[in-house]
Amino acid sequence: MITRRRLICSVPALGLLGHSSILRFAYHAAEDSFNELQIPPLLRGEAADGKQVFRLNLQEGSREFLPGFQTSTFGINGNYLGPTLRFKRGERVAFNISNQLNEPSSLHWHGFHLPPTQDGGPHQAIAAGAGWQPEYDVIQFAGTYWYHSHLLHESGRQVYKGLAGMIIVEDDSLSDILPVEYGVDDVPLILQDRRFGRDGQFLYRNRYQDDVMGMMGDTILVNGTHRPLFRPETSMVRFRVLNASNARSFDLALSDNRVFYQVACDGGLLNAPVATTRLRLGPAERAEILLQFSPGDEVSLMSIGQSSDFPVFPGGISEMMRSLNSETFELLTIRARGELRNNYPLPTQFPQVYRLPEAAATNTRTFLLSMGAGMRSGEDKGPGTGARNGTGGGYGGGNYFINGRVMNMDYINERIQLNTTEIWVLNNNSPMMHPFHIHNGQFQILDRNGNPPPQNEQGWKDTVRVGSGEQVRLIMRFTDYTDESNPYMYHCHILEHEDRGMMGQFVLV
Ligand code: C2O
Ligand code: CU
Ligand code: CU
Repeated sequence: MITRRRLICSVPALGLLGHSSILRFAYHAAEDSFNELQIPPLLRGEAADGKQVFRLNLQEGSREFLPGFQTSTFGINGNYLGPTLRFKRGERVAFNISNQLNEPSSLHWHGFHLPPTQDGGPHQAIAAGAGWQPEYDVIQFAGTYWYHSHLLHESGRQVYKGLAGMIIVEDDSLSDILPVEYGVDDVPLILQDRRFGRDGQFLYRNRYQDDVMGMMGDTILVNGTHRPLFRPETSMVRFRVLNASNARSFDLALSDNRVFYQVACDGGLLNAPVATTRLRLGPAERAEILLQFSPGDEVSLMSIGQSSDFPVFPGGISEMMRSLNSETFELLTIRARGELRNNYPLPTQFPQVYRLPEAAATNTRTFLLSMGAGMRSGEDKGPGTGARNGTGGGYGGGNYFINGRVMNMDYINERIQLNTTEIWVLNNNSPMMHPFHIHNGQFQILDRNGNPPPQNEQGWKDTVRVGSGEQVRLIMRFTDYTDESNPYMYHCHILEHEDRGMMGQFVLV
């Protein structure tokens, strides 16, 4: 029997952060023991033939997340998650990947502009015991990216077990304005929620709602650390926050409501640091944030529960949807050292982000994100019939669709002309948010329901949250790497939705 205190507790949704209640929560937590935040090892690869070569082994393992319990896991060069890969903009990277699992897998380079055959999606599965040697040029902007399993129908389970890691793309020209000392003032925060059984093993998809809302756990791991504590040594720390959860969104805030600065989104730096007290991150989204500390500072990074405007009606669905993001909980406890090194002042300005002009677009495509209104069991009366089953189903019993279709490896949904700029209009007629991700690079958000995106979404993005009932327009330029027969993917990054069909394919011709 596990006696640890659950980290996530439902609290009445707080519109604004109620200082007293949050502080009580933080102080309460302080009575318990913390674990030092683990920092994934940094892997720089080896130079050979003008490339940086990285060796990655997908392997089984186990780790003690909770005291006294060994949890079975997957990892890359280790027992859970993978090393942080450090690339330099402009170099060529190559990989020796060996799949030592007893099942097929794949590794996808999330956010990268590269040929489809090197992308690591469902078409590049690596059989059990086999290897894969992709290589590509790093033509990304400096930023925070990631890599993870992308096996057809199994991405959710494999990522949940640990097949994911961070990628840092560096650009030497920026190192004098932002902290770059890995693990010291440049710190990865890989946020994940997990659910443990009484035997200490990960539970996966053991509840009906896991298939509807995606797999959400009640225990937070940061870089695979349960109840993590970080002790800053410098007055400024750059955190690279990656939401590597299967389905959970986070609403980041500091427990004392202090201001922090977002400097980068998915695909690189914003125009300037954006001062904020709140930051929402959906699955697969990244943000680099700067936090300033004074000696002895104690503060917690939290996720703040949101109130729902989803209508109240009888049955499980209303309750389920209203519970989404309703919880307030702690992600990371921070205790600054008594003496801090003054490392960096707050930067004021970065190189300006080039905005793709809407007028450059020559084609518009529309994508409808929807959740099947079929029954969980028994006869599927088809979309739109509103069929319900006894447990109050009605959504998610069927499949998840983009434009009415489920993912089919043999069906190319979209053909895109090389060197064109397109507008993609994303409509969501389902009751929940879907984080929409496009492979092969970065796009920009034109508007949300006709309004310009907030400042912190005005950089390069590869994943965009599309809220229930919302319309998001984005603009993307398609260059390089034509390939008639090898597609790229676009999909919802709630991995259980992706695995159950909310994914499509495009070729660049
Ligand atoms: Cu992060 Cu298609 O994936
Ligand atoms: Cu991707
Ligand atoms: Cu989804």
